[in-house]
Amino acid sequence: MRQKRVLPWREAPTLYRVWISEIMLQQTQVATVIPYFERFIKRFPDVETLARAEEDDVLLHWAGLGYYSRARNLYRAAKQIFSEGGFPKCREGWLSLPGIGPYTAGAILSIALDQPEPILDGNVERVLSRVRRVGREEGDVEFKSRLWKLSLIFVEKGFSHSIRPSVLNQALMELGATVCTPGNPKCSVCPLAGICQARVCGEVESFPPRKPAKKWVQVHEELHCVLAEVVGVGSIMLRRRRKGEWREGLWDLLESAPVSKAVNLGIVETRHVVTNHKIFRKTQVWKLEDSQGWGVAEPDSELRWFSLGSDELPMGSALRKTLEKVREMF
Ligand code: ADE
Ligand code: SF4
Repeated sequence: MRQKRVLPWREAPTLYRVWISEIMLQQTQVATVIPYFERFIKRFPDVETLARAEEDDVLLHWAGLGYYSRARNLYRAAKQIFSEGGFPKCREGWLSLPGIGPYTAGAILSIALDQPEPILDGNVERVLSRVRRVGREEGDVEFKSRLWKLSLIFVEKGFSHSIRPSVLNQALMELGATVCTPGNPKCSVCPLAGICQARVCGEVESFPPRKPAKKWVQVHEELHCVLAEVVGVGSIMLRRRRKGEWREGLWDLLESAPVSKAVNLGIVETRHVVTNHKIFRKTQVWKLEDSQGWGVAEPDSELRWFSLGSDELPMGSALRKTLEKVREMF
């Protein structure tokens, strides 16, 4: 652990800080998470502040990290923790919270409470599958469950030799992130080189076994960007995505064209990728000739005018990209 990276959640690793950081790190890289983590902790320094906050405020502090269900689950979990009078102290308690799976429960319990609980993320998976030459011949489920067992053996063995689970598990993560990397692993400086079976067999490149190829889903969206007649403060109309809708709670462009008189300024095309979705968006840009009324009809939707230059709304990266292009039109 002498080689460990200095990361903000490693200073004062309280349950609260470790929990927030692990949720942020679920699908997002360390370098991206750092500024979000610091801003989030400043605004919501403890579980009570988070539980009592407005959901919009939480989403706003998440905006840009993506995978917004994480933020909504985090918020629901905060309310549950607060109402139950404190953090769970055992695995089952953590697993009962929204957004917490086996990996996150293991990470929180080992890092914050030094309990000998296993972890398995992409980094640890790579290290362990190389060290014990674990292949995928018997299918993905068997592969994962063998690695989970190995992870448990590692942390328990370490524990019985007085190695703290927080140290051991984070050392595995660090090894995967900085030494046992996907390409060009630095075996010559690796502390596990002596026991690593893939290294001994000269088969490091064959582990971990390749995953079956991702199945991409293409999504085509046609949206409408409605601007007020004077571009300035409060000049763009957005709708909030409904309950049960994909990206629920985020503000986004409209699904229908304006109903009152408007000039069409052209089309903006953007694309972006979320998990296995490739999203292609075609956005018609409209300028209302008279925005005294609302000028749009979107049944069952919450609508609001926002400033085109404003960053104070919870928007996903799809909307962010579109707005950047819309701004370039002026
Ligand atoms: N990825 C997931 N959890 C992490 C942690 N605690 N430190 C570094 N990278 C991580
Ligand atoms: Fe990874 Fe090489 Fe270390 Fe084995 S010896 S754990 S392959 S870095």
